[in-house]
Amino acid sequence: MRLSEPEFAAMNTAVRRFIQRTVELPTFRSLGLESNPGHLLEIGCGSGYGATLLLMLNPASYVGIDLMPEQIALAQARHLPGADFRVQDATDLSCCGDCSKDTVVIFGALHHIPAWQQVVRACYRVLCPGGRVFVEEPGAGLLVPWERAFHWGHADPNIFTLNAFESFLKASGFTITARRYFLGFGSYAALKQGCK
Ligand SMILES: C[S@@+](CC[C@H](N)C(=O)[O-])C[C@H]1O[C@@H](n2cnc3c(N)ncnc32)[C@H](O)[C@@H]1O
Repeated sequence: MRLSEPEFAAMNTAVRRFIQRTVELPTFRSLGLESNPGHLLEIGCGSGYGATLLLMLNPASYVGIDLMPEQIALAQARHLPGADFRVQDATDLSCCGDCSKDTVVIFGALHHIPAWQQVVRACYRVLCPGGRVFVEEPGAGLLVPWERAFHWGHADPNIFTLNAFESFLKASGFTITARRYFLGFGSYAALKQGCK
């Protein structure tokens, strides 16, 4: 789903970038996101600030996708060497071949996607055996009261509990190797089993 105007504005502030740099990326690092993460796909890359952080890890390649052309225009305007940004609905990852990615990173995009389960399944398909997805999402326990207070347009069917999310990761074949809960957000490293 497209972001509402207030959320689009909030996502493109110095505060948001500060949180992503000082909390979210370090959390993924502590869950096992290492340097040289191979071929990396970022889902819901927004305006590309996450890409500036992820490119410092020296991936073999970086593709960032987002549904909103406005976000991708901001990302492309960064002129980041080695970054390939595309307007793309994450429920259609036909742009990525089976087992073509080593790492998938998602900074809080799935709760905007009504068919988020389809995206989780697609992540499993595009990851190579031994590949991992790093994902951070707010759970319903945070989003429901937030929505009541701020009306950012998170539609009910998108809102999942962290329990439901974890169950679906496992049902899709992932093994959750590390997790952290913080202020109603869940951050996960989930592995597609197999040798690299
Ligand atoms: C909450 S924002 C997070 C943006 C960025 N990852 C960040 O952390 O600042 C969610 C992003 O997911 C994107 N998004 C929503 N639905 C999508 C979909 N179906 N496919 C790809 N991206 C989507 C939105 O356009 C938005 O940029």
